[in-house]
Amino acid sequence: MKIGVIMGGISSEREVSLSSGREILKNINFNGYEGVEIVLDSKKDIFEKVKGIDFALLALHGKYGEDGTVQSILDSLDLPYSGCGMASSAVCMDKDLTKCVLKSKGIRTGDWFIVRKPEDVTEEKVRNLGFPVVVKPNSGGSSVATFICSTMEEVMDGVREGLLVDSEVMIEEFIKGDEITVPILDGKVLPTLIIKPNKGGFFDYSSKYEAGGAEEVIIEYEEALQKEIHQMAIDTFRVLKCDVYARVDFIIRDGIPYILEINTLPGMTSTSLFPKSAAGIGMDYKALLDAIIQISLK
Ligand code: DAL
Ligand code: MG
Repeated sequence: MKIGVIMGGISSEREVSLSSGREILKNINFNGYEGVEIVLDSKKDIFEKVKGIDFALLALHGKYGEDGTVQSILDSLDLPYSGCGMASSAVCMDKDLTKCVLKSKGIRTGDWFIVRKPEDVTEEKVRNLGFPVVVKPNSGGSSVATFICSTMEEVMDGVREGLLVDSEVMIEEFIKGDEITVPILDGKVLPTLIIKPNKGGFFDYSSKYEAGGAEEVIIEYEEALQKEIHQMAIDTFRVLKCDVYARVDFIIRDGIPYILEINTLPGMTSTSLFPKSAAGIGMDYKALLDAIIQISLK
């Protein structure tokens, strides 16, 4: 079976995607799978480049890859692909829409508002959230152009920077607490990981991808809290209509879990969280790829 490992693309997470894709390619030749490298460099080259493959294993992150556009093209070509479908991919890429869905279903997430131009930011709205706030592109990933801001000047700088990479910027309540993540595979949770950035601060781009940038370890909270975390992760996956696999990010403040976001094409690099969590139940990288392919084909 020819497995097209699709990577690259034109989002701000292109480099991360290339790392995910290369790690997958290194591991994919087993079980009758034959990996075919497909690097996307534009919005449209996918039509040509997927010719001849039997299955598309998506290693794309961010816009034009994780946001439903590629999924809809593959749907129209009748080519099976890994992971979530078009609608859930599109909604989960949009942090504002994701939080609107979560809030409407009573799933806890921090307060926020969206701006489309610097003039949309008022001091009153920011003060209602309370300093510090998080400023980030609404459809970003990997913490690109994400800032924790303690003054209005910092907020305005962050908004201007975010608007360079996205048409909408989210200003969100900063919830200080444990950063954790819960991978979901086939509707079931994998072990929870807690993230400890080594240089302090939060899990930003460099702590995500530099070797030794962060330490991620499996954590088991006390029973009631762990149960709530699992339930919230599964509910989030379900209400956003995700399929096959995804990774739900949380902050735990004073024993209370808040959903940060859900990643429908979680990183698969050698330092990524999803494979690390799977290893916690004895599922190695190849077994994880096999599960993703087989569940996607069901
Ligand atoms: N957006 C990155 C790839 C992740 O969530 O793992
Ligand atoms: Mg993300």
